[in-house]
Amino acid sequence: MSYEYERVATPAGGLRLHLNENTAGCSPAVIEALRSLTAVQLAAYPDYDAAIDATARRLQVGADALLLTNGLDEGILVAAMVALRDAADGEAIIVVPAFDMYAACTDAVGGRVVEVPLEPDFSFPLERVLAAINERTHIIWLTNPNNPTGQSIPREAILRIAEASKRALLFVDEAYVDFGGLTLIGDAMMQQFPRLIVGRTFAKAYGLAGIRAGAVVGQPEIISALRRVTPPYSLNACAAAALPAAFGDTAFYDWYLSQVQESKQLLYDALEKARVFYWKSDANFVLARFEGRGTGVQASLAASGVHVRDRSGDPGCADCLRITAGVVEHTRKFVTALEWLV
Ligand SMILES: Cc1ncc(COP(=O)(O)O)c(C=O)c1O
Repeated sequence: MSYEYERVATPAGGLRLHLNENTAGCSPAVIEALRSLTAVQLAAYPDYDAAIDATARRLQVGADALLLTNGLDEGILVAAMVALRDAADGEAIIVVPAFDMYAACTDAVGGRVVEVPLEPDFSFPLERVLAAINERTHIIWLTNPNNPTGQSIPREAILRIAEASKRALLFVDEAYVDFGGLTLIGDAMMQQFPRLIVGRTFAKAYGLAGIRAGAVVGQPEIISALRRVTPPYSLNACAAAALPAAFGDTAFYDWYLSQVQESKQLLYDALEKARVFYWKSDANFVLARFEGRGTGVQASLAASGVHVRDRSGDPGCADCLRITAGVVEHTRKFVTALEWLV
């Protein structure tokens, strides 16, 4: 079985609601910071002090509890390396449907993927995750809130898994937590479990997907183990300049979060009107089941210039499309396109 990551074909034009990107772009303060970079700064290896300091303050953690990464994708890769590189027959538990990079990175470093499906209603399968943990389990990937379902995992469930898997790395991917649900950063669990780490991305709420910037947070010892397998200059100078500027523009961040909330409500209303089943989401997207016609609806929307993600190939996701909720004006375009179709 191949777990190779399949890059999604990127449409040249149209409305991109297929990759959960920030549909507003990034803060103007980031553009300003990039414009002010000099030729000499771009010719030098980047200095990360300001970016680390700003990120540590934003996440309210110490600098030694934080690793900046080239997108959270890199954080996932280095976590897989640390967990699985010395483990013959090492297993990684993935609750599916899930972000494809967990399986891709597990496989890339020689680990064995053990999939545990969500319940049919997409609630969290705690007992089956606990049952899958054994002495070969070296890493457990959780996404909170989940992609593609938008559902949060109860804190109690994560606690039970942490207690049951003390030797394994427990990676809680919080790529979407800016938009809803509860972060573990600052939670007592982070002190209690030295192998619990949290992944964050600045691609979504801060609109830095193209810049590539993410972070992994955990106790200093595990963070330094991850640092040892991370290239010393994995973030480029643009990312290092962008982070402090992005965090400084709290008005942009707050505005975007409120646009996403309003957009989600618009999507719920439109899907209800069209009698399409959907799951309420804690993230910046909504998953909807277009019974018997998911792929066709995705293709028709694409033909009208609105790109959403067909997730019907994912376990339990027959006929499901995932729609990014971003700027309200963009969501209205999706709603109009949908009204023409159904
Ligand atoms: C759950 C999840 N984790 C991680 C990422 C990757 O984030 P980044 O763009 O920072 O690599 C994504 C991107 O879509 C995601 O959905």
